[in-house]
Amino acid sequence: MMKRLVLASRNAGKLRELQALLQPLGWEVIPQDDLDIAEAPEPHPTFVENALSKARNAAFHSGLPALSDDSGLCVDALGGAPGVISAHYAGEPRSDLRNNEKLVHELQGVKDRRAHYYCVLVLVRSAQDPEPLIAEGRWEGEVVLSPRGQEGFGYDPYFYLPQQGCTAAELTVTDKNRISHRAQALARLLHRLRDITPS
Ligand code: IMP
Repeated sequence: MMKRLVLASRNAGKLRELQALLQPLGWEVIPQDDLDIAEAPEPHPTFVENALSKARNAAFHSGLPALSDDSGLCVDALGGAPGVISAHYAGEPRSDLRNNEKLVHELQGVKDRRAHYYCVLVLVRSAQDPEPLIAEGRWEGEVVLSPRGQEGFGYDPYFYLPQQGCTAAELTVTDKNRISHRAQALARLLHRLRDITPS
């Protein structure tokens, strides 16, 4: 029997990736939109605080365990920006296209464009869960100024992986899901989840 959890995100890219990662492990991932749960505000300066507030909100309104992901791109030369505001770096309404244009603009003439994706996953079993499960992942790369690839979402066409010799948008979904910040965080979360899940 599938175990159900609500995903506290409206981001279709994250939903696809997390469903692909969790379904084989027996988890049915229900997007919060399907339950008419509105997005929680993300006012905090840290990823983990935002993730916790999103997960609590979804658990409160659904009565189910809830998983949230807060993630972003952090560029060394920009002091860690766009960071927690990655989704709306270029303002509202959110647009990957405009975010990427702004990123490229900010990095014109900058030689050292090292960056990493960061992801924190938070799982609460209930809105009042005093022991949320928290796991992080970090994926190192650098920003390129011309886009490459059609896969993924967000900043992926500009996130170059020296080890793979391609951008994240040139990886297949399967390959991205093996090595991404989200995959790393999920692998860590699942270790803890196995310890607390009755079989
Ligand atoms: P959040 O929904 O507030 O966590 O915002 C996450 C934002 O970070 C996304 O909208 C993207 O802009 C960026 N981001 C996070 N993970 C990825 C990824 O795997 N690929 C591309 N962009 C990502």
